[in-house]
Amino acid sequence: MPERDDTETHAAPVAPRSVMACINRRFRGDQPSCAARGAEAVADAVEAGIAARRIAIKMERVICLGQCTKGPTVRFAPGGRFSLGTRLEDVPAILDELQALCGVDDDESEPPMHLLGS
Ligand code: FES
Repeated sequence: MPERDDTETHAAPVAPRSVMACINRRFRGDQPSCAARGAEAVADAVEAGIAARRIAIKMERVICLGQCTKGPTVRFAPGGRFSLGTRLEDVPAILDELQALCGVDDDESEPPMHLLGS
């Protein structure tokens, strides 16, 4: 189970508009980065899960969420919780939470929300 940081959100959960996955890679060995810990595979799995489940949220790959020593970092946005130290096996629970908060796109004639521009 990834570390959760809910310090910024003490109110009832609200539906995020996007989920951000840091894929930053630093090439200096003395500087931490999410990609060095498998963030690209985590981002791929989150994105594929959103598409497969048709979760009504968009996915953004971002360069750094300020939690570099604790990555791979995923965050619900805006202002939502962090998932820190996220592993591939944590992705189904993240998708379950996103699906519960955001619902699914029922209209299969429309492209999935994650393919729409912002
Ligand atoms: S490198 Fe991922 S949070 Fe900074």
